Amino acid sequence: STTPVKVAVTGAAGNIGYSLLFRIASGALLGPDTPVELRLLEITPALKALEGVVMELDDSAFPTLAGIEIGDDPNVVFDGVNVALLVGARPRTKGMERGDLLEANGAIFTVQGKALNDHAADDIRITVTGNPANTNALIAKSNAPDIPAERFSALTRLDHNRALAQLAKKTGTHVTDLKKLTIWGNHSATQYPDIFHAEVAGKNAAEVVNDQAWIENDFLPTVQKRGAAIIEARGASSAASAAAATIDHTRDWLKGSAEGDWLSMAVVSDGSYDVPEGLISSFPVTTKDGNWEIVQGLEINEFSRGKIDASTAELGEERDAVKDLGLIG
Ligand code: NAI
Repeated sequence: STTPVKVAVTGAAGNIGYSLLFRIASGALLGPDTPVELRLLEITPALKALEGVVMELDDSAFPTLAGIEIGDDPNVVFDGVNVALLVGARPRTKGMERGDLLEANGAIFTVQGKALNDHAADDIRITVTGNPANTNALIAKSNAPDIPAERFSALTRLDHNRALAQLAKKTGTHVTDLKKLTIWGNHSATQYPDIFHAEVAGKNAAEVVNDQAWIENDFLPTVQKRGAAIIEARGASSAASAAAATIDHTRDWLKGSAEGDWLSMAVVSDGSYDVPEGLISSFPVTTKDGNWEIVQGLEINEFSRGKIDASTAELGEERDAVKDLGLIG
Protein backbone atom coordinates (compact mmCIF):
# COMPACT_ATOMS: atom_id res chain seq x y z
CA SER A 1 0.00 0.00 0.00
CA THR A 2 1.17 3.57 -0.52
CA THR A 3 -0.74 5.15 2.37
CA PRO A 4 1.84 5.72 5.10
CA VAL A 5 1.37 3.85 8.35
CA LYS A 6 1.36 6.32 11.22
CA VAL A 7 3.67 5.19 14.01
CA ALA A 8 3.72 7.14 17.26
CA VAL A 9 6.77 7.02 19.51
CA THR A 10 6.76 8.65 22.94
CA GLY A 11 9.95 9.65 24.70
CA ALA A 12 11.30 10.15 21.19
CA ALA A 13 14.26 12.30 22.28
CA GLY A 14 15.42 9.70 24.80
CA ASN A 15 18.09 7.04 24.54
CA ILE A 16 15.89 4.25 23.20
CA GLY A 17 14.26 6.72 20.83
CA TYR A 18 17.62 7.59 19.33
CA SER A 19 18.03 4.00 18.17
CA LEU A 20 14.39 3.15 17.58
CA LEU A 21 13.42 6.01 15.26
CA PHE A 22 16.15 5.30 12.73
CA ARG A 23 15.26 1.63 12.55
CA ILE A 24 11.55 2.35 12.06
CA ALA A 25 12.35 4.97 9.43
CA SER A 26 14.60 2.52 7.58
CA GLY A 27 11.81 -0.05 7.25
CA ALA A 28 12.77 -2.47 10.05
CA LEU A 29 9.28 -2.35 11.56
CA LEU A 30 6.97 -2.47 8.55
CA GLY A 31 9.20 -3.67 5.74
CA PRO A 32 10.89 -1.96 2.81
CA ASP A 33 7.67 -1.41 0.83
CA THR A 34 5.57 0.37 3.45
CA PRO A 35 6.00 4.12 3.87
CA VAL A 36 5.93 5.25 7.49
CA GLU A 37 4.95 8.56 9.04
CA LEU A 38 6.53 9.18 12.43
CA ARG A 39 4.52 10.91 15.16
CA LEU A 40 6.88 11.86 17.91
CA LEU A 41 5.79 12.86 21.40
CA GLU A 42 8.01 14.48 24.00
CA ILE A 43 7.65 16.68 27.03
CA THR A 44 7.99 20.39 26.25
CA PRO A 45 11.59 20.83 27.55
CA ALA A 46 12.79 17.99 25.29
CA LEU A 47 11.25 19.31 22.06
CA LYS A 48 14.39 21.20 21.08
CA ALA A 49 16.51 18.07 21.38
CA LEU A 50 13.84 16.22 19.40
CA GLU A 51 14.13 18.82 16.63
CA GLY A 52 17.79 17.85 16.38
CA VAL A 53 16.86 14.18 16.03
CA VAL A 54 14.39 15.13 13.29
CA MET A 55 17.20 16.95 11.46
CA GLU A 56 19.20 13.72 11.55
CA LEU A 57 16.22 11.69 10.34
CA ASP A 58 15.87 14.13 7.43
CA ASP A 59 19.58 13.83 6.73
CA SER A 60 19.35 10.04 6.57
CA ALA A 61 17.15 10.31 3.44
CA PHE A 62 15.29 7.10 4.24
CA PRO A 63 13.27 5.88 1.23
CA THR A 64 10.47 4.58 3.51
CA LEU A 65 10.12 7.70 5.64
CA ALA A 66 7.06 9.61 4.40
CA GLY A 67 6.82 12.32 7.06
CA ILE A 68 7.49 13.38 10.63
CA GLU A 69 5.37 15.33 13.09
CA ILE A 70 6.49 16.20 16.57
CA GLY A 71 4.73 17.71 19.57
CA ASP A 72 4.03 17.69 23.28
CA ASP A 73 0.25 17.13 23.12
CA PRO A 74 -0.75 13.47 22.86
CA ASN A 75 -4.20 14.47 21.58
CA VAL A 76 -2.55 15.96 18.49
CA VAL A 77 0.39 13.57 18.06
CA PHE A 78 -1.78 10.42 18.39
CA ASP A 79 -4.36 11.59 15.84
CA GLY A 80 -5.01 8.74 13.43
CA VAL A 81 -2.03 6.62 14.56
CA ASN A 82 -2.00 2.93 13.66
CA VAL A 83 0.83 1.87 15.96
CA ALA A 84 1.87 3.45 19.26
CA LEU A 85 5.20 2.66 20.89
CA LEU A 86 5.03 4.08 24.41
CA VAL A 87 8.66 4.39 25.40
CA GLY A 88 8.76 7.62 27.42
CA ALA A 89 8.36 7.17 31.14
CA ARG A 90 9.49 8.70 34.42
CA PRO A 91 12.65 6.95 35.57
CA ARG A 92 13.09 6.07 39.21
CA THR A 93 15.29 8.71 40.79
CA LYS A 94 17.14 8.58 44.08
CA GLY A 95 14.90 8.39 47.11
CA MET A 96 11.80 7.67 45.04
CA GLU A 97 9.54 5.01 46.55
CA ARG A 98 7.76 2.49 44.36
CA GLY A 99 4.46 4.26 45.04
CA ASP A 100 5.94 7.56 43.83
CA LEU A 101 7.16 5.86 40.65
CA LEU A 102 3.76 4.32 39.96
CA GLU A 103 2.08 7.66 40.59
CA ALA A 104 4.44 9.62 38.32
CA ASN A 105 3.97 7.10 35.54
CA GLY A 106 0.27 6.90 36.21
CA ALA A 107 0.03 10.58 35.37
CA ILE A 108 1.66 9.85 31.98
CA PHE A 109 -0.19 6.66 31.04
CA THR A 110 -3.70 7.78 32.08
CA VAL A 111 -3.37 10.82 29.81
CA GLN A 112 -1.85 8.83 26.93
CA GLY A 113 -4.45 6.05 27.27
CA LYS A 114 -7.27 8.60 27.02
CA ALA A 115 -5.62 10.33 24.06
CA LEU A 116 -5.25 7.02 22.21
CA ASN A 117 -8.84 6.17 23.04
CA ASP A 118 -10.07 9.43 21.53
CA HIS A 119 -7.73 9.89 18.58
CA ALA A 120 -5.99 6.71 17.41
CA ALA A 121 -7.05 4.82 14.27
CA ASP A 122 -9.42 1.85 14.60
CA ASP A 123 -6.62 -0.63 13.93
CA ILE A 124 -4.35 0.75 16.68
CA ARG A 125 -1.77 -1.60 18.25
CA ILE A 126 0.04 -0.40 21.39
CA THR A 127 3.39 -1.56 22.76
CA VAL A 128 4.53 -0.23 26.14
CA THR A 129 8.30 -0.23 26.67
CA GLY A 130 8.53 2.45 29.38
CA ASN A 131 8.82 1.04 32.90
CA PRO A 132 7.09 -0.32 34.88
CA ALA A 133 5.95 -1.59 31.47
CA ASN A 134 3.25 -4.12 32.43
CA THR A 135 1.53 -1.80 34.87
CA ASN A 136 1.88 1.22 32.60
CA ALA A 137 0.13 -0.83 29.91
CA LEU A 138 -2.59 -1.74 32.40
CA ILE A 139 -3.09 1.95 33.26
CA ALA A 140 -3.27 2.95 29.57
CA LYS A 141 -5.71 0.11 28.81
CA SER A 142 -7.93 1.03 31.75
CA ASN A 143 -8.15 4.60 30.48
CA ALA A 144 -9.05 3.56 26.93
CA PRO A 145 -12.42 1.80 27.25
CA ASP A 146 -13.17 2.01 23.52
CA ILE A 147 -9.98 0.22 22.45
CA PRO A 148 -10.17 -3.58 22.67
CA ALA A 149 -8.04 -4.82 25.59
CA GLU A 150 -6.02 -7.15 23.34
CA ARG A 151 -4.56 -4.13 21.49
CA PHE A 152 -2.40 -3.32 24.53
CA SER A 153 0.87 -5.09 25.18
CA ALA A 154 4.02 -4.60 27.20
CA LEU A 155 7.54 -5.46 26.18
CA THR A 156 9.19 -8.64 27.50
CA ARG A 157 10.88 -9.37 24.18
CA LEU A 158 14.17 -7.92 25.41
CA ASP A 159 14.11 -10.45 28.26
CA HIS A 160 13.23 -13.14 25.72
CA ASN A 161 16.14 -12.14 23.49
CA ARG A 162 18.49 -11.97 26.46
CA ALA A 163 17.44 -15.50 27.47
CA LEU A 164 17.99 -16.75 23.91
CA ALA A 165 21.51 -15.31 23.94
CA GLN A 166 22.36 -17.02 27.26
CA LEU A 167 20.89 -20.37 26.16
CA ALA A 168 22.75 -20.25 22.85
CA LYS A 169 25.99 -19.55 24.69
CA LYS A 170 25.43 -22.40 27.15
CA THR A 171 24.56 -24.95 24.46
CA GLY A 172 27.13 -23.82 21.90
CA THR A 173 24.42 -23.06 19.37
CA HIS A 174 23.14 -19.98 17.60
CA VAL A 175 19.97 -18.14 18.61
CA THR A 176 18.38 -19.24 15.33
CA ASP A 177 18.64 -22.87 16.55
CA LEU A 178 16.39 -22.07 19.52
CA LYS A 179 12.60 -22.16 19.68
CA LYS A 180 9.71 -21.95 22.14
CA LEU A 181 11.39 -20.09 24.95
CA THR A 182 9.01 -18.25 27.27
CA ILE A 183 9.24 -15.26 29.55
CA TRP A 184 6.43 -15.39 32.11
CA GLY A 185 5.16 -12.60 34.35
CA ASN A 186 6.44 -9.11 34.96
CA HIS A 187 9.23 -7.24 33.15
CA SER A 188 11.14 -6.98 36.42
CA ALA A 189 13.62 -9.02 38.43
CA THR A 190 10.81 -11.52 39.20
CA GLN A 191 10.29 -12.42 35.54
CA TYR A 192 10.64 -16.13 34.80
CA PRO A 193 12.57 -17.24 31.71
CA ASP A 194 11.33 -20.81 31.07
CA ILE A 195 13.37 -23.27 29.02
CA PHE A 196 11.40 -26.40 29.98
CA HIS A 197 9.41 -26.21 26.73
CA ALA A 198 12.18 -24.63 24.69
CA GLU A 199 13.99 -26.47 21.93
CA VAL A 200 17.66 -26.50 20.97
CA ALA A 201 17.95 -27.74 17.39
CA GLY A 202 14.71 -29.67 17.88
CA LYS A 203 15.61 -31.24 21.24
CA ASN A 204 14.17 -30.23 24.62
CA ALA A 205 16.37 -27.42 25.96
CA ALA A 206 16.20 -28.38 29.65
CA GLU A 207 17.31 -31.93 28.71
CA VAL A 208 20.11 -30.64 26.47
CA VAL A 209 21.31 -28.35 29.26
CA ASN A 210 20.77 -31.08 31.87
CA ASP A 211 21.91 -28.78 34.66
CA GLN A 212 19.20 -27.54 37.04
CA ALA A 213 21.83 -25.69 39.10
CA TRP A 214 22.80 -23.67 36.01
CA ILE A 215 19.14 -22.85 35.34
CA GLU A 216 18.52 -21.72 38.92
CA ASN A 217 21.80 -20.09 39.88
CA ASP A 218 23.16 -18.80 36.61
CA PHE A 219 20.62 -18.55 33.78
CA LEU A 220 17.72 -17.06 35.75
CA PRO A 221 19.66 -14.40 37.67
CA THR A 222 21.72 -13.48 34.60
CA VAL A 223 18.59 -12.81 32.54
CA GLN A 224 16.70 -11.20 35.43
CA LYS A 225 19.56 -8.85 36.31
CA ARG A 226 20.86 -8.18 32.80
CA GLY A 227 19.53 -4.62 32.80
CA ALA A 228 21.51 -3.79 35.95
CA ALA A 229 24.65 -5.49 34.55
CA ILE A 230 24.47 -3.30 31.44
CA ILE A 231 24.08 -0.13 33.51
CA GLU A 232 27.09 -1.21 35.57
CA ALA A 233 29.23 -1.86 32.48
CA ARG A 234 28.05 0.88 30.17
CA GLY A 235 27.17 3.58 32.65
CA ALA A 236 23.82 3.89 30.90
CA SER A 237 20.78 1.69 30.59
CA SER A 238 20.28 -0.66 27.65
CA ALA A 239 18.95 1.34 24.76
CA ALA A 240 19.85 -0.16 21.36
CA SER A 241 18.84 -3.67 22.47
CA ALA A 242 15.61 -2.31 23.97
CA ALA A 243 14.88 -0.54 20.68
CA ALA A 244 15.62 -3.73 18.73
CA ALA A 245 13.28 -5.72 20.99
CA THR A 246 10.54 -3.09 20.64
CA ILE A 247 10.82 -3.53 16.86
CA ASP A 248 10.90 -7.36 17.07
CA HIS A 249 7.83 -7.44 19.33
CA THR A 250 5.72 -5.06 17.28
CA ARG A 251 6.84 -6.38 13.87
CA ASP A 252 6.07 -9.98 14.84
CA TRP A 253 2.70 -8.95 16.28
CA LEU A 254 1.75 -7.30 12.98
CA LYS A 255 3.38 -9.79 10.61
CA GLY A 256 2.94 -13.04 12.56
CA SER A 257 5.13 -15.45 14.47
CA ALA A 258 7.08 -18.20 12.73
CA GLU A 259 5.45 -21.60 12.20
CA GLY A 260 6.47 -24.01 14.97
CA ASP A 261 7.67 -21.27 17.31
CA TRP A 262 6.26 -18.72 19.70
CA LEU A 263 7.10 -15.35 21.23
CA SER A 264 6.97 -13.78 24.65
CA MET A 265 4.61 -10.82 24.98
CA ALA A 266 2.95 -9.29 28.01
CA VAL A 267 -0.77 -9.24 27.21
CA VAL A 268 -4.01 -9.16 29.17
CA SER A 269 -4.59 -12.45 30.97
CA ASP A 270 -7.75 -14.46 30.34
CA GLY A 271 -6.87 -16.64 33.32
CA SER A 272 -4.68 -19.02 31.30
CA TYR A 273 -2.10 -20.85 33.42
CA ASP A 274 -3.81 -19.47 36.54
CA VAL A 275 -2.49 -15.98 35.87
CA PRO A 276 -5.20 -13.76 37.40
CA GLU A 277 -7.55 -12.45 34.74
CA GLY A 278 -6.99 -8.84 33.73
CA LEU A 279 -3.28 -8.61 34.63
CA ILE A 280 -0.91 -7.70 31.80
CA SER A 281 1.51 -10.57 32.15
CA SER A 282 4.04 -12.16 29.83
CA PHE A 283 2.96 -15.40 28.14
CA PRO A 284 4.01 -17.64 25.30
CA VAL A 285 1.99 -16.32 22.35
CA THR A 286 1.60 -16.95 18.67
CA THR A 287 0.64 -14.03 16.46
CA LYS A 288 -1.05 -13.61 13.12
CA ASP A 289 -2.24 -10.49 11.28
CA GLY A 290 -2.01 -8.24 14.32
CA ASN A 291 -3.72 -10.66 16.69
CA TRP A 292 -2.15 -12.81 19.42
CA GLU A 293 -3.16 -16.03 21.08
CA ILE A 294 -1.77 -17.50 24.28
CA VAL A 295 -0.24 -20.94 23.61
CA GLN A 296 -2.41 -23.42 25.49
CA GLY A 297 -1.86 -26.79 27.10
CA LEU A 298 1.76 -26.50 28.27
CA GLU A 299 2.54 -28.61 31.29
CA ILE A 300 3.93 -26.42 34.07
CA ASN A 301 6.29 -28.20 36.46
CA GLU A 302 6.50 -27.35 40.14
CA PHE A 303 9.62 -25.21 39.76
CA SER A 304 8.03 -23.14 36.99
CA ARG A 305 4.74 -22.86 38.90
CA GLY A 306 6.45 -21.23 41.87
CA LYS A 307 8.31 -18.76 39.68
CA ILE A 308 5.24 -17.81 37.64
CA ASP A 309 3.17 -17.36 40.81
CA ALA A 310 5.81 -15.11 42.39
CA SER A 311 5.96 -12.81 39.36
CA THR A 312 2.21 -12.61 38.87
CA ALA A 313 1.81 -11.89 42.60
CA GLU A 314 4.07 -8.87 42.09
CA LEU A 315 1.89 -7.76 39.17
CA GLY A 316 -1.16 -8.10 41.41
CA GLU A 317 0.49 -5.87 44.00
CA GLU A 318 1.31 -3.24 41.35
CA ARG A 319 -2.28 -3.38 40.12
CA ASP A 320 -3.63 -2.93 43.66
CA ALA A 321 -1.27 0.01 44.21
CA VAL A 322 -2.42 1.86 41.08
CA LYS A 323 -6.03 1.04 41.93
CA ASP A 324 -5.53 2.63 45.37
CA LEU A 325 -4.10 5.69 43.61
CA GLY A 326 -7.28 5.90 41.50
CA LEU A 327 -5.37 5.39 38.25
CA ILE A 328 -7.47 2.42 37.13
CA GLY A 329 -11.10 1.53 37.68
P1 NAI B 1 15.42 8.24 28.61
O1 NAI B 1 15.26 8.85 29.96
O2 NAI B 1 16.67 8.39 27.85
O3 NAI B 1 14.24 8.75 27.66
C1 NAI B 1 12.93 8.85 28.08
C2 NAI B 1 12.31 10.02 27.36
O4 NAI B 1 10.92 10.06 27.67
C3 NAI B 1 12.89 11.37 27.76
O5 NAI B 1 13.36 12.05 26.60
C4 NAI B 1 11.72 12.10 28.40
O6 NAI B 1 11.72 13.48 28.15
C5 NAI B 1 10.55 11.39 27.73
N1 NAI B 1 9.27 11.52 28.45
C6 NAI B 1 9.05 11.56 29.78
N2 NAI B 1 7.75 11.74 30.04
C7 NAI B 1 7.13 11.82 28.86
C8 NAI B 1 5.78 12.04 28.46
N3 NAI B 1 4.82 12.22 29.36
N4 NAI B 1 5.50 12.06 27.14
C9 NAI B 1 6.47 11.90 26.23
N5 NAI B 1 7.75 11.72 26.53
C10 NAI B 1 8.09 11.68 27.83
O7 NAI B 1 15.07 6.69 28.82
P2 NAI B 1 15.31 5.48 27.83
O8 NAI B 1 16.64 4.89 28.11
O9 NAI B 1 14.98 5.87 26.43
O10 NAI B 1 14.22 4.45 28.39
C11 NAI B 1 12.82 4.72 28.26
C12 NAI B 1 12.03 3.78 29.12
O11 NAI B 1 12.17 2.44 28.70
C13 NAI B 1 12.42 3.78 30.60
O12 NAI B 1 11.23 3.74 31.37
C14 NAI B 1 13.18 2.49 30.75
O13 NAI B 1 13.12 2.01 32.08
C15 NAI B 1 12.40 1.60 29.82
N6 NAI B 1 13.08 0.39 29.38
C16 NAI B 1 12.30 -0.73 29.20
C17 NAI B 1 12.84 -1.90 28.76
C18 NAI B 1 11.98 -3.12 28.56
O14 NAI B 1 12.52 -4.16 28.25
N7 NAI B 1 10.66 -3.07 28.73
C19 NAI B 1 14.28 -2.01 28.50
C20 NAI B 1 15.02 -0.78 28.67
C21 NAI B 1 14.41 0.37 29.10
